[in-house]
Amino acid sequence: MSFDVNAIRADFPILSRMVNNKPLIYLDNGASSQKPQVVIDAINTAYSHEYANVHRGLHYLSNLATEKYEAVRGTVAKFLNVADENDIIMNSGTTEGINMVAYGWAMNVMKPGDEIVLSVMEHHANIVPWHFLRERFGIVLKWVDIDENGVLDPEAMLDAITPRTKLIAVTHMSNVLGSIVDVKSICVGARAKGVPVLVDGSQGAVHMPVDVGDIGCDFYAITGHKLCGPSGSGAIYVSKDRQSEMRPFIGGGDMIREVHKDQVIYNDVPHLFEAGTPGIVQTIGLGVALNYMMDIGMDQIAAHEKAITQYASAQLGGLNWLKVQGSAPERGAIFSFTMDGAAHAHDISTILDKKGIAVRAGQHCAGPLMDHLGIHASCRASFAFYNTLEEVDALVDGLRLANDLFG
Ligand SMILES: Cc1ncc(COP(=O)(O)O)c(C=O)c1O
Repeated sequence: MSFDVNAIRADFPILSRMVNNKPLIYLDNGASSQKPQVVIDAINTAYSHEYANVHRGLHYLSNLATEKYEAVRGTVAKFLNVADENDIIMNSGTTEGINMVAYGWAMNVMKPGDEIVLSVMEHHANIVPWHFLRERFGIVLKWVDIDENGVLDPEAMLDAITPRTKLIAVTHMSNVLGSIVDVKSICVGARAKGVPVLVDGSQGAVHMPVDVGDIGCDFYAITGHKLCGPSGSGAIYVSKDRQSEMRPFIGGGDMIREVHKDQVIYNDVPHLFEAGTPGIVQTIGLGVALNYMMDIGMDQIAAHEKAITQYASAQLGGLNWLKVQGSAPERGAIFSFTMDGAAHAHDISTILDKKGIAVRAGQHCAGPLMDHLGIHASCRASFAFYNTLEEVDALVDGLRLANDLFG
């Protein structure tokens, strides 16, 4: 199937709306993506005709909802190229996935003084759970810098490993700089030293094909709302070795076989780590979203976004009053920038908003990276496969206007 961006745009009803009397140009995909009609319809159908709780009833609707919910595990496994779908744990998104690793795995295997290696360009979701372990259990966080282009050298991560290192936790793609991390090299080197690796795939899995088997990580987290799915959906891959070291961190229904006054008999993985009523419809919607993206083809999506990345790099790079953060050779279509002169990121985004252009301004949940870059805030334009080169031009025009007003 050839990639037809206009046909794809027609699948997303919101993309034809107006904002501030201008056609919407949605460049805030790093925060959350828009939803195609098939996902909206699936949510409607699930609630209108197919809704009941899962895993609980013997009645028709419960079985139907369970079947649809459980099928998504296979869809996620296919999307991440994981051989056994039971290695996929469904959840509400990356934040829950990483907290599960912190409480369910790390707390079990780590002792005070043990170390976790992190890069400075992690999202708070891949920082704050580790700070909890630092504050509460004396775990040591070791930070690895990026270079002046925003590249994270895999060797630098591996050099940070000591005999006390129990985990490397690293993003697949920076949500601020767009830099793509060579996570496979990190995993190969870490495995040789016996150190597990968690990859935060919240951004990476959106923009390129992911092969978890090839990467060789122990944990790979994705979040549904950035993948054209509903908010409150997500999943994490956990290798069998790490599963055997994990204890459930949320207790409740579904994750048990029997409960008595003095004893609990637990369910098997993956249900062991999915306590309580899950996001049933959210998960069903996620399955439809992933199938939608796979039908387009993650290779095709990556190729289209590469064209946008190259074009936007050239256009934004030509504005000598604009400072684009990061210029990694391997990068995706996420651009963060500041402007010379008085324009604050919030002012820039307000001007762009008047033109119907949605971008994000602020810290992007990446405090340590902001410290590293020496800035308080930046503006971020983040593209998806439904964006066009014309929208890059519109962004540049909007930035020119902001520079005229504030620069
Ligand atoms: C790199 C990265 N990690 C983690 C997250 C957190 O995802 P969620 O808020 O969906 O749990 C985000 C979301 O912005 C992200 O960009």
